[in-house]
Amino acid sequence: MAYSVTKLDDYSPAALDAAVRDLLSAVTQEAGAVIGENDSKLFRDRWMARKNGILTQINDLWLKAAPGPAKREVGARVNQLKTEVERAVDAAQQRISNSASKSRFDSERLDITLPGIRRPLGAEHPVLRTMNEIVQVFRAMGYSVAEGPEIETDYLNFEALNFPPNHPARDTQDTIFVAGQERKPQRDRLLLRTHTSPVQIRAMMATPPPIRVVVPGKVHRADTADATHSPIFHQVEGLAVDSNITFSDLKGTLDHAMKAFFGSNVKTRFFPSFFPFTEPSADVSVTCFKCGGKGCRLCKMSGWIELLGCGMVDPNVFQFVKSNGYDSRKISGFAFGMGVERIAMLKYGIDDIQLFYQGDVRFLEQFA
Ligand code: DAH
Repeated sequence: MAYSVTKLDDYSPAALDAAVRDLLSAVTQEAGAVIGENDSKLFRDRWMARKNGILTQINDLWLKAAPGPAKREVGARVNQLKTEVERAVDAAQQRISNSASKSRFDSERLDITLPGIRRPLGAEHPVLRTMNEIVQVFRAMGYSVAEGPEIETDYLNFEALNFPPNHPARDTQDTIFVAGQERKPQRDRLLLRTHTSPVQIRAMMATPPPIRVVVPGKVHRADTADATHSPIFHQVEGLAVDSNITFSDLKGTLDHAMKAFFGSNVKTRFFPSFFPFTEPSADVSVTCFKCGGKGCRLCKMSGWIELLGCGMVDPNVFQFVKSNGYDSRKISGFAFGMGVERIAMLKYGIDDIQLFYQGDVRFLEQFA
């Protein structure tokens, strides 16, 4: 039965003690039954509401109703009861809010000793990184950067570079042609550029001499993929045209570039070679950066690694851009071209070109 206040008809100390005991045991018991925020509010109201709360009722039914001589005694008890009830109500409220914040702490508990969540970091692809590093070496020497389209005309990819129609040098380029163009004149037929060299012509058509330009880009050949070949790969091309450019300028420029790129210890060596658009032409080797020139597996015991092609721009090439100020009697120039994947493979010790294109993070994350 829930506790309710009744009038006192016996004001003897023993009767008062008994009434107080009943009330205190009721408040203690009800306090113990409070289990939530809502209970706690009801509990407080039931006991302490100014209007009709139990304490108010006690004031009315016990104290006000007490006969004069008992008032002192009853007043002392009622004051004591007020204190006790307030304490019980506060304690219940405290208990509820403690357990609410405890369960919140429990649910939001953070174990700072757990390993963190690893967010994988992206990185520049090793091919692009190598390409950008090569370009940067030439930018530092005052070269500007140009790009050209991957779908190119036969004219720019071959003819203007002094590959005449049906010239056997075209066979070395394993060209992929766009289909269905038989009715076009040969020079207008489209193909996937086999090298970045057509951008030499594009740059000279756009800018009169002097010019210094590097051209990074993607090229295509009808090659079967294997450990050293890919039908798509990248090159960096270079071109410098001015008055009085000599083969010494070419040698000095490339020697500096190779040292800047591979380290100041490397030496360069120029061999005679052939390209239709340069005369004379050369292949450039650098001393093996693995063995330093003593001979090892990387350089096939020769001490040298062949890296790029170059030469003095053939006067026949200038003929195609003569109208833009390229008069071979007044100007001369050199050009060079290199394969980015090959250089990246040598620099990072990669033995299979296909690793660049497979997107395997176990390979790529080594460059992060
Ligand atoms: N275009 C040549 C190739 O893809 C590379 C090359 C050689 C570029 C000599 C040049 C150069 O500019 O002068 O095989």
